[in-house]
Amino acid sequence: MRVLVVGGGGREHALAWRLGVGCSSGDRREIICAPGNAGIEQHAECVAVQPDDIDGILRLATERAVDLAVVGPEAPLVEGLADRLREAGVPTLGPGAKAAALEGSKAFAKEIMAWASIPTAEYAVFEEADDARSFAREMEGRVAVKADGLAAGKGVLLCRSVEESDAAVASLMEQRSLGAAGTRVVVEQLLEGEEASFIALCDGRRVLPLAPSRDHKAAFDGDKGPNTGGMGAFSPTRLVDAEMEARLVREVMEPAAAALAEQGAPFQGVLYAGLMMTPEGPKVLEFNVRFGDPETQPLMMRVRGDLAPILFAAAKGDLSGVTMDWDPSAAVCVVLASGGYPGAYEKGFEITGIDEMEQGEDLMVFHAGTRRDEDGRVVTSGGRVLGVTALGAGLGEARRRAYKAASGIGFTGARFRTDIGAREDKE
Ligand code: AMP
Ligand code: GLY
Repeated sequence: MRVLVVGGGGREHALAWRLGVGCSSGDRREIICAPGNAGIEQHAECVAVQPDDIDGILRLATERAVDLAVVGPEAPLVEGLADRLREAGVPTLGPGAKAAALEGSKAFAKEIMAWASIPTAEYAVFEEADDARSFAREMEGRVAVKADGLAAGKGVLLCRSVEESDAAVASLMEQRSLGAAGTRVVVEQLLEGEEASFIALCDGRRVLPLAPSRDHKAAFDGDKGPNTGGMGAFSPTRLVDAEMEARLVREVMEPAAAALAEQGAPFQGVLYAGLMMTPEGPKVLEFNVRFGDPETQPLMMRVRGDLAPILFAAAKGDLSGVTMDWDPSAAVCVVLASGGYPGAYEKGFEITGIDEMEQGEDLMVFHAGTRRDEDGRVVTSGGRVLGVTALGAGLGEARRRAYKAASGIGFTGARFRTDIGAREDKE
């Protein structure tokens, strides 16, 4: 089987690695990754085509006659990459543009949730700043103000007072701090509780949940500082036990899949619900239409067996009878970021310490923003640079092992949170 993984971050490294190492004996597996990075090239053939070059990806997939395309990032899905691949006869794990609007438009996501009675925060959609401000005032400023369009995780402003909500509306809608993404905003009630990530494969109708996980979005320890793409993740989590998992499939995932199918936009791909576990039960904060990053890194450490036929079944539209097997161990991913991230940062620093590390099924250094320079050295090339991911008998052991490995890696300005999984480990 020849698999094309589209993307070049930590999530794609974890996928490319697992798709290769989990290969059933006797099967020949070839992994191509576009564009990949300095870590992915150890497991896959990396081809310099960017994920948003839809024609380029299509050409690569057809010329190489890939049996399965797995699309990592959301932007090309929102732009219709999966539609184009499927039209060309390439089995693809990733929703078409219409279904990908679940992530591409927060307003569309809220409409689907309302229509399918999926529990979520109360909300309204605005195109006029004054209307948005007065709605937020009615909620005493305790709101989340969200740019409607894609904003790479930076389009959500959390407010706890009228002063803050006024400022958030002005920033997004009047000053256009995120450009056109602020043309329409969703203002919704601020939810309190703990967050979990619930990710499932969806074949257009049926859903097959992956193990539950948790992400750490804030830049600094104690959930302080600005939001990032994710500074670390772990799986499993006590927030989602077997009973809660069944409830989430019933109350969130299946209704979402059914609603999209009914709208003529069946969802074939990876459906990700970002949840707030509130005192009244789980509520959906957002839907994503792809694997989480960095949640995928711990998930790929825990999943057993050969992943490719499972992803293929979802891409072909038939998950009936398919199951997934999870290692009962815990996995923790600690992200090493460039100094300054999520703000401005410098690139091009040499990374040391990875080669000395013994990597394998229970410890992997997944590359995110890395590249090989002219001299063959691995250097930093992004905000999130590496995801050091370890398995352990429990969360505590996985944490210790991940942090021990992370502290052996160096580059100028390297920074990581020291509390990934810490709160749940103490309980
Ligand atoms: P989103 O992109 O919608 O997931 O928002 C990014 C982050 O903002 C989430 O992971 C939450 O931490 C936070 N957030 C979003 N909406 C709300 C809300 N209604 N109440 C509290 N926190 C929220
Ligand atoms: N880890 C958050 C995301 O993938 O959106």
